Amino acid sequence: MRLIIIAAHDPNLVIGKDGTLPWHYSEDLKFFKKTTMGSPLLMGRGVFEELNEKPLPGRLNVVLSRSKNYSHVPTFSLIDTALQYLSDHDKVFIIGGGEIYRQTLDMADELVITEVKEEYDGDTFFPEYRDQIGTIWKEAWREDHDSLSFVRYIKMRGGDLE
Ligand SMILES: NC(=O)c1ccc[n+]([C@@H]2O[C@H](COP(=O)([O-])OP(=O)(O)OC[C@H]3O[C@@H](n4cnc5c(N)ncnc54)[C@H](OP(=O)(O)O)[C@@H]3O)[C@@H](O)[C@H]2O)c1
Repeated sequence: MRLIIIAAHDPNLVIGKDGTLPWHYSEDLKFFKKTTMGSPLLMGRGVFEELNEKPLPGRLNVVLSRSKNYSHVPTFSLIDTALQYLSDHDKVFIIGGGEIYRQTLDMADELVITEVKEEYDGDTFFPEYRDQIGTIWKEAWREDHDSLSFVRYIKMRGGDLE
């Protein structure tokens, strides 16, 4: 199973404000939908509440919470148990938010990042990873647009470092 983090952040790693996204870019929403369609999504309770507790269609939605147990979506109080539940899938997308990104960055195989070029005010951040580009993360693909860039990083294995 490949564990893929998907996130959009601004130049200061801002990802959220007041429990929601600080921006609206329809091309990013389309990119997110196209990239994740058909694969399971793993998210924190914060993200699931942002979705008004409605699972995103066409994808198995799995929620992490220590305080709630939703009857309509699989809910887990431990990341490892959720990953065990999802272990038969080829790909699993971790879709945030900040708390979940921080806890899963080290175990992820790939990062699919939308770089938002404008700066925004925020209260939730993506963990710092840019100092690991070239040692832990290798840029595998990039597509630049006016306001955004879509970038895919793959975790470097021993052979890449030789
Ligand atoms: N720009 C982006 O790409 C992007 C993507 C996603 C989200 N966001 C933004 O990020 C913000 C939400 O992020 P957040 O950090 O506040 O919330 P979050 O990461 O979505 O959820 C946090 C909650 O997840 C549960 N949790 C955390 N670690 C856990 C663990 N190890 N095991 C089980 N449950 C665990 C806890 O729920 P309980 O309290 O119920 O125990 C915790 O309160 C919003 O502003 C959203 O818009 C941005």
